[in-house]
Amino acid sequence: MALLIAAPTRDTDELAETLNRLEPGADIRVWPDAGELSEIDFAICWKQPEGLFSRLPGLKAVTSLGAGVDGILKDPDLPRDLPVGRLAGPRLASNMAAYVTAMTTLHWRDFPGFMKDQAARRWNQWAPEHPPVVGLMGMGEMARMTASALEALDTPVHGWNRSGKGPDTVTMHSGDRGLVEMAATVDVLVCLLPLTDQTRGIIHAGLLAAMKPGACLINTGRGEHLVEADLLSALDAGRPGRAILDVFSTEPLPESHPFWQHPRILITPHCASITLTEEAARLALESWRRVQAGKPPLGQVEPDRGY
Ligand SMILES: NC(=O)c1ccc[n+]([C@@H]2O[C@H](COP(=O)([O-])OP(=O)(O)OC[C@H]3O[C@@H](n4cnc5c(N)ncnc54)[C@H](OP(=O)(O)O)[C@@H]3O)[C@@H](O)[C@H]2O)c1
Repeated sequence: MALLIAAPTRDTDELAETLNRLEPGADIRVWPDAGELSEIDFAICWKQPEGLFSRLPGLKAVTSLGAGVDGILKDPDLPRDLPVGRLAGPRLASNMAAYVTAMTTLHWRDFPGFMKDQAARRWNQWAPEHPPVVGLMGMGEMARMTASALEALDTPVHGWNRSGKGPDTVTMHSGDRGLVEMAATVDVLVCLLPLTDQTRGIIHAGLLAAMKPGACLINTGRGEHLVEADLLSALDAGRPGRAILDVFSTEPLPESHPFWQHPRILITPHCASITLTEEAARLALESWRRVQAGKPPLGQVEPDRGY
């Protein structure tokens, strides 16, 4: 029985070291030094090499090295009945909450304006009267922790998901109409959805046009949630007034991309909440043990649903 880490775009040495430290003697392998492939019964994947799954006949389950599973579910070699899990611990969610709260506050208190004032040696004392109303697209683990953090700032929170059910303190919406209604109500609209066939391109010209003038869009879901060309014309029209983007259709964002130079777009390099080695290693070992005991992996997703 061996665990394989197959995440060629990530620095996985520290993860392998941590797994070995936490579980001395465990057979931990890192792609491409995978040894005898038939011995591998569990894999931690992120942008795994093409064709990997068809070369692992003993694989009992796979887990994503993070919260999103879109990169695994879209793999044509993924066996249809292979259980797929994810590593989404409390620290991942609290880091996401910190990012969204910080970016919401940056927009609300207009910190970019203070940076301009400082550059001009201008003393421009002001503060907004009320906190912003925030809308969260998705009400999963990331969004629930984010909602709790925002509520501590006395910020009214709206949420949108499939079921229309969420925490008691959040005003919930569902359905296409519910999403447009929420977008029209809030000062900050945050995408915390998983990428699925239903959510790809969900932030398009129509939704952006429903936003309040000057409102802020924050995308920490996946780049493909946003129709990038639509955002540029929407910013020209003032709805939204600002966009804070952590994820992009092509990553790293190409140097020639117009987003880099746009005065009302703030870019962060897909770091809103990066998988933390210690937390991921502990969760992965727990998930592996569960699979060896015949149980589903941690955070098992429904492939047909896409999350
Ligand atoms: N930028 C970063 O650093 C970073 C870090 C971590 C995660 N992420 C992204 O955040 C995503 C969400 O993570 P999570 O752990 O919160 O996911 P999760 O726990 O699986 O929650 C997903 C939420 O999205 C809702 N949803 C899914 N499809 C929908 C649809 N078609 N219409 C309406 N609502 C829909 C679900 O609705 P129901 O509640 O009704 O099922 C659920 O509330 C990840 O998939 C990943 O893409 C990004």
